Amino acid sequence: MATAVAPKGLEGIVATTSSICWIDGDAGVLSYRGIDIHELAERSTFEETTFLLWFGHLPNSGELADFTKKLAEARKLDPKIIELLRSVPSSGSPMEILRTAVSLLSLYDTDEKDNSHDANVRKAYRLTSQIAMIVAILDRIRKGKPVVDADPTLSHAANFLWMLNGDKPSDTAVRTFDIALILHADHELNASTFAARVIAATLADIHSAITGAIGALKGPLHGGAPARVLPMIQEVERTGDAEQLVRSTLDRGERLMGFGHRVYRAEDPRARVLRTTAKRLGAQRYEAAAALEQAALSELRDRRPDRAIETNVEFWAAVILEFAEVPAYMMPAMFTCARTAGWSAHILEQKRLGKLVRPAALYAGPDARTPDTVEGWKENLVKA
Ligand code: ACO
Repeated sequence: MATAVAPKGLEGIVATTSSICWIDGDAGVLSYRGIDIHELAERSTFEETTFLLWFGHLPNSGELADFTKKLAEARKLDPKIIELLRSVPSSGSPMEILRTAVSLLSLYDTDEKDNSHDANVRKAYRLTSQIAMIVAILDRIRKGKPVVDADPTLSHAANFLWMLNGDKPSDTAVRTFDIALILHADHELNASTFAARVIAATLADIHSAITGAIGALKGPLHGGAPARVLPMIQEVERTGDAEQLVRSTLDRGERLMGFGHRVYRAEDPRARVLRTTAKRLGAQRYEAAAALEQAALSELRDRRPDRAIETNVEFWAAVILEFAEVPAYMMPAMFTCARTAGWSAHILEQKRLGKLVRPAALYAGPDARTPDTVEGWKENLVKA
């Protein structure tokens, strides 16, 4: 029997070589293809950032115009997909429905049987546009409102808000949502991206890989956090007592959603951008969120001096998304809209590597056994 212990949750294990995303967890640095996330959040758009992730360089103006046009042209959904969204039980969470709808999309994709690089790039355009459409349409259906047609003249962020809310969004709302999309677009080998890469490495299609990734992102330890952050902030707004909320949550043995990260020991750089944005915009719940953050960090430092548990991206994402009028229960699904860009980049890269991902386990079960050494087994065999 093995005596060594494998790191729990593959913590600290380098599992592949990738040129897409760099994280320095101790310094709190994140960059896509060598460009710091703060630069991208300040100067880029979701379209430009997605081009960067997929093709490795920032687009020139012609490339950006072509990319934007292709994403807009990909805003088409077979009526059967909308039928599915209308027919699923209303008890289903947006992530469950999205996972099912994305799986179904593959059967309506014009490149369904083509797993070549070029076809996968075309599918990546379609999936990026279609997933955003599905999320917006799902919310309209839930609210009993008519589905809004996509507007090809709008940016990806503006079209999403248009299809979600049915009115032309303000420039501030669009820019705010665009920043959230950029910040969530990729994050190296997080759980959902790793899942996508493992699936892609089997030579399965991109829809399978993204369906699997959505399943992973759905978990509360990953993309499910922001929907759980907002009720905490609302509670602080109501009671004015952030310390009490923090203490009682931790006393119950529960985790504070929006805090802690596998990789970052310094503050998550995305949280910093979103906090600054929320403050600048005068977001509705900025004060309550800031009070909760202060109380949480102080209590976590007292209770866990051994482990740096800092604010992660999901805490301030909840405030920012609410400002952009994305309802709390749709937040994980919105996260999917952004991360489809990163998943696609990783799937394309993984397919180029062309090697099945199949790690080994450190066996920790019993030593070799036979019917002679297992009590009662031989007798049972004889009876049988
Ligand atoms: N609140 C309270 N305690 C925490 C928190 C938290 N938010 N995060 C970590 N801890 C504690 C754990 O209880 C654990 O304690 P233990 O050593 O006594 O068992 C210790 O810190 C280490 O936690 P792990 O779960 O082992 O660390 P890991 O790196 O696996 O976890 C994770 C990272 C899952 C994100 C964790 O910090 C967490 O659960 N956070 C809350 C959920 C959340 O905000 N998720 C969004 C993450 S960002 C994203 O996915 C985009």
